[in-house]
Amino acid sequence: MLEKISETTEFLRSEGFIDPVAGIILGTGLGGLTAKMVNRKEIDYRNIPNFPVSTVEGHEGKLIFGEFGGRKIVVMKGRFHYYEGYGPEQVSFAVRVLKYLGIKCLFLSNAAGGVNPDFQIGDIMVITDHINLLPNPLVGQNDERIGVRFPDMGEAYDRYLIKKALLIAAEHHMRIRKGVYLATSGPTFETPAEYKYFRIIGADAVGMSTTPEVIVARHMGLPCFAVSVITDLGVEGKIAYTTHESVQHEAEKTESNMTIIMTELINSL
Ligand code: HPA
Repeated sequence: MLEKISETTEFLRSEGFIDPVAGIILGTGLGGLTAKMVNRKEIDYRNIPNFPVSTVEGHEGKLIFGEFGGRKIVVMKGRFHYYEGYGPEQVSFAVRVLKYLGIKCLFLSNAAGGVNPDFQIGDIMVITDHINLLPNPLVGQNDERIGVRFPDMGEAYDRYLIKKALLIAAEHHMRIRKGVYLATSGPTFETPAEYKYFRIIGADAVGMSTTPEVIVARHMGLPCFAVSVITDLGVEGKIAYTTHESVQHEAEKTESNMTIIMTELINSL
């Protein structure tokens, strides 16, 4: 795997993707953040050696390099999901590449269903911990040059960045939540009984991404910060018909607040 990572990293460096300080993986409906980047370079995933190609509508599939608030960053606009048929290793390969490009921190966003009864549609939830119900991307042979066999997950989400994000939200009078993100395979949204079950086992929100990338990032010692946009509710009495379009629509509405949090966090690095 290290050979493949090096091949892809060298290709990206030759295209000018040099020394980014942070990587961002943008979820459903949050693509607009890249509009604020200057001196941009973009490459479609399909033109990057060893990258899988993203197939979901609304997930564009581009790697974008540029400056954001004066810092060099690299953004994945569109991610790889397990439900698309990619293996756990393919889902997280790009994260390995970002690490070897030199990023010091990984930022992630996603759309999720809220199972905490206090949540409302449109809430932004800072992820403090997760429950991974997807196959673990580290299953298989381990390369000690990349990370240890049994990585600790006691602080999967960086405490300092969580604190900082909550401060930023308060300064901007934003409504912000904290909570546990549960990842399930999808592509079905949950039945009412499943939402209830996920709440009982400790989740605040449920989605179909993020945990594989965070696991792989932590395997390499990369600090992570992640946020969910609550696009629908999996709470008894509040469950409405959910579609990919309704999720995209609700996620887009929070874009300006998400951009504020991400911009200020990156500026604080
Ligand atoms: N469940 C799973 N994934 C999701 C949801 C949900 O309710 N909303 C957005 N992504």
